[in-house]
Amino acid sequence: MRNLCIVGLQWGDEGKGKIVDYYADRFDAVVRYNGGSNAGHTIVIGGRTFVFHLLPSGSLKRKRLLIGPGVALDPLTLREELELIAKEGGEADLLVDSRATVVTPLEKEMDTFIEKLRGDNPIGTTKRGIGPSYAMRALRLSPRAGDLADGTFDMSSAIAFYRSIMKDVPDITKWVSQAKDVLKGKTGDVGGTIIETNERGGSVMFEGAQGALLDLVYGTYPYVTGAHTIASYVPAGLGIPNSAMGDVMGVAKAYTTRVGGGPFPTEMLDETGTKIRTEGKEYGATTGRPRRVGWLDLVALKYAVRLNGVSELALTKLDVLTKVGEMKVCTHYSVDGEETSDFSRVLPRLASVKPVYKELPSFSGAELHRDILPRVAEDFVGYLEDELKVKVTLVSTGEERSATIRRGFVSKVS
Ligand code: GDP
Ligand code: IMO
Ligand code: MG
Repeated sequence: MRNLCIVGLQWGDEGKGKIVDYYADRFDAVVRYNGGSNAGHTIVIGGRTFVFHLLPSGSLKRKRLLIGPGVALDPLTLREELELIAKEGGEADLLVDSRATVVTPLEKEMDTFIEKLRGDNPIGTTKRGIGPSYAMRALRLSPRAGDLADGTFDMSSAIAFYRSIMKDVPDITKWVSQAKDVLKGKTGDVGGTIIETNERGGSVMFEGAQGALLDLVYGTYPYVTGAHTIASYVPAGLGIPNSAMGDVMGVAKAYTTRVGGGPFPTEMLDETGTKIRTEGKEYGATTGRPRRVGWLDLVALKYAVRLNGVSELALTKLDVLTKVGEMKVCTHYSVDGEETSDFSRVLPRLASVKPVYKELPSFSGAELHRDILPRVAEDFVGYLEDELKVKVTLVSTGEERSATIRRGFVSKVS
């Protein structure tokens, strides 16, 4: 068994889609285990851009695609992505777990409704109904993919629940029949399929959505998503034993971004921040919103590495820093006159910490070639490895699939 989890280590959008696509050749199946269509995973091949919200990023490499029970699944988004794959000249080899929670138009309405209730302090959700959908699952009111495909789920209690709270509750009759059509013949047992794949000697890649700092419990609550985003959710989100998880590759940008509200200690509101946003095309792949931009935060990153049990690291977007005249990383926070690098301890007061920076040699003007990194970039990567105590085995130097440098091997799949 040579499975691998790919997880985001910041606030999402680290470049997971690119890394999953790049690496997918080595696996038989690629699996989504968490989140839903709040995710936007981008793959760029020969100047063409593909964004996947639900289909695993192994789609373009024609891998077996699995969507596990831990996912909040929007059937109509799935239909769009299946159509996209069909246009590209193939049929997606997809299995959706019968127990996956289905997002209906009602949860999307509820998402918008709750954001309005929050007044001046919205979370800034993607409005894809993710939080309400997981909440409805806990209330045992949400349909599951298998129930919907079989036409066995009675939505009347869910509708009555929504009517008791919201004035405008959309009619979902047409939606139910469309969703049923999408899911028919595609549901089954994803956990069992993964175990069988491993028993046959095959390997599986688990594609995380969002990032560690957006985890419902361990992230910057309440400015988080509605589910777990960390690697330990892989077994629970798929119905497989812990021993099937395999190694964990964490993905981090060489700087930091965040979409939506919430504390962001290293946020740059100056011209350098604007420059990075422009050069890095930092606009949300799902909502198009400008992403907030900041320097790399080692305090937060160490926390995410530990939380996920990261065994190796993929570092993305180094090329963007060649367009900026300075280079900093946050090594500590200053809070109440003290310096700390203990993220979990200051998490409840994150909005009031001040970042303490280390200035590093600028990447400005450095040429990042396809197969070898210039000295300044190698030194930066080495510095991160020393600080994080994890090997950086992949470095991404551009949005194209081909702009990826292999720096070494850690996991058994390598
Ligand atoms: P994900 O959600 O983690 O899959 O990341 P997104 O796709 O939302 O955002 C990452 C963005 O950065 C996408 O537009 C990618 O095409 C792009 N990208 C990924 N790696 C690199 C890189 O090394 N350099 C540059 N310039 N862009 C990259
Ligand atoms: P990928 O997989 C970046 C953010 C939203 C908001 C918060 C809650 O592309 O990295 P939600 O709609 O989940 O209830 O929103 O989480 N968010 C993401 N930010 N990348 C994502 O996914 C995200 N998914 C959710 O912006 O702040
Ligand atoms: Mg994204």
